[in-house]
Amino acid sequence: MTDARTLGDRQLSKCPVSHDDGTWNVWGNEEARVVAENADVFSSRVSQHLNVPNGMDGDEHRRFRAVIDRYLSDEVILPLYDMFEKHAQEAYGSLPENFDANDFGRLVAVGCQLDWLGWDSSYENELTGWIASNQHATRSGDRSRTKAVADHFTEIIHRIIADHEGHNGDDPTCKLMRETVEDGDGIRRLTMPEIVSILRNWTAGDLGSITYSIGIIAHFLATNPSVSHQLAAYDRADNTRALDLALDEILRIDDPFLANRRITTRDVTVAGVEIPEGKRVLLNWTTANRDPRAFGNPDAYNPEGNASRNLVYGAGPHVCPGRTLSTLELRAGLVALLRGGELALTSTPVREEYPVGGYHSVPVRKTGVRS
Ligand code: HEM
Repeated sequence: MTDARTLGDRQLSKCPVSHDDGTWNVWGNEEARVVAENADVFSSRVSQHLNVPNGMDGDEHRRFRAVIDRYLSDEVILPLYDMFEKHAQEAYGSLPENFDANDFGRLVAVGCQLDWLGWDSSYENELTGWIASNQHATRSGDRSRTKAVADHFTEIIHRIIADHEGHNGDDPTCKLMRETVEDGDGIRRLTMPEIVSILRNWTAGDLGSITYSIGIIAHFLATNPSVSHQLAAYDRADNTRALDLALDEILRIDDPFLANRRITTRDVTVAGVEIPEGKRVLLNWTTANRDPRAFGNPDAYNPEGNASRNLVYGAGPHVCPGRTLSTLELRAGLVALLRGGELALTSTPVREEYPVGGYHSVPVRKTGVRS
């Protein structure tokens, strides 16, 4: 078995778009951007299940996306940073001297999401356990296991909604339960399946992405001491812009959010490859973020120089609305690691295997010192 990043690099070296077993894979950076930006040709309606707003197109997507954006705007999210930083510092402090950076990632991901969504801290262990089961199930490729894990998550969401019923509170979960959306006949309340879908999209996948991102960041710090020193200096100078650019670039080099699906609405040609109408297309973000035609040496760290072609958070109408939230959670995790001194690997990290990105484990030791 091969890790997803190596596999993608290999495919991209042959061609930016390939066809295999009824799926057209888009690997190249420019090609991925073209697909993501042309949502009328590359539809996101890839499943019969309700998926708000990920699985929607056109006007319907715009109306639901407007609802989501109200919850994830900079104005709403930026004030949460101090809470996230406190949580990440406490999580770091609770770890032994030798730890797996993915365990730290899980603690940061779950703690920040609970804080943000107003969910009771009693869900912490269940959600942390759920991330691990989801990763095992995805890795196994066994559809009955992935379905059981998805059903468990829906059941957790239903319990959380029941906890919030009748509270009329100010947290995003309570607000969502009173939320309205515009539809053809005017403004109406969100339905229960829509609320469940939104909450699932805000948590299920993203807890895993944040966990893996923190594993990748810890690995990068441990293996790039000079950049780690530079980032510690940015932290001391409170240069958050430089820290956030660094986070984007570390994840560009090793993006744990592998791919998204599309389906063609008409015959189309990408990079000279014809894709007929109604065919499955896979947008491979991890590989598109390592395209040598866009970045030269994909492993060369260049935050400013590579920012404009970075596709970690996607592009076009479905571009990630959670980017600010995600960046603040990751910055809180990064800063906790930097303030803990130099990070040292204690044994060889183990990569995940396709279809999961990032590391399975990143064993590290807190040194408590920075030379
Ligand atoms: C490291 C963390 C994350 C990464 C790498 C990431 C990446 C992405 C990417 C590439 C897309 C585009 C999908 C597409 O074009 O089909 C996307 C969409 C989305 N992301 Fe994120 N994301 C992250 C964290 C988050 C968080 C924390 C949230 C919210 C709580 C979030 C909510 C969403 C939603 C709702 C969409 C669908 C948007 C739409 O269809 O209009 N993401 N994300």
